[in-house]
Amino acid sequence: MAVGVDVGGSSIKCALVDLRTGAFASPRVSVPTPAQDSTETLLTALQTVVTNVPGRHAVGLAFPSVIRNGTVRTAANLNKAWIGKSLAVLATDRLQRPVIAINDADAAGLAELRYGAARDVPGTVLLLTLGTGIGSALFVDGKLVPNTEFGHLQVAGREAELRASGRAKVDQNMSWDSWSEQLNLVLKEMHALLWPDLIVLCGGITEEPEKFLDKLRCEARLCVGTLRSEAGIVGAALATTLV
Ligand code: BGC
Repeated sequence: MAVGVDVGGSSIKCALVDLRTGAFASPRVSVPTPAQDSTETLLTALQTVVTNVPGRHAVGLAFPSVIRNGTVRTAANLNKAWIGKSLAVLATDRLQRPVIAINDADAAGLAELRYGAARDVPGTVLLLTLGTGIGSALFVDGKLVPNTEFGHLQVAGREAELRASGRAKVDQNMSWDSWSEQLNLVLKEMHALLWPDLIVLCGGITEEPEKFLDKLRCEARLCVGTLRSEAGIVGAALATTLV
């Protein structure tokens, strides 16, 4: 068992995870991501969700940034004050138990690879999370290449995540047709550069695949994740066993 926490743009979600199956072993606890996401308010929010989960298990934190050795290195959609902070050390101090930190898309990818849509898939697998930003996780024969940031790839002169994230659809008031066209541009570029065997799409927006999946065109096999919005939590918990 381990606790998984997924820090997203709108909410911080947490649950105890049974690592044999990837299933939740406690109800999911969630709080809104503090509007002033200073390091202190965010740590307090983390403490709130984690102390609401039974037991004192190790914690895996999925965070929307590049994470190297527990330290936050980028902050595209976060308070820039996070850059250079050792999230793992700060959270370990605050929660008084072992904490590891990992990029949120890498966490979702680990979960889909172990328990979900990409289970036992060999070759090159690319997972994209389409949420506040676009996160990416790249696997080669089951091994993660950590901290890929393909959401910031320039696609026809504009960042991929400004074209086809879940937030882009809402902010730019796009229809499913126009959003799917934007996503097609992004998928085309990513495919041309990586030639993956499988692309797995994740994130809240993929909860309604019937709205867009048949509008997508991609040379690689394409599917939506099976763990849906739970993937980040499950992968974060799983990551506690991988370091
Ligand atoms: C960040 C990534 C993150 C993704 C999804 C991007 O803006 O740069 O690190 O994985 O958003 O949250």
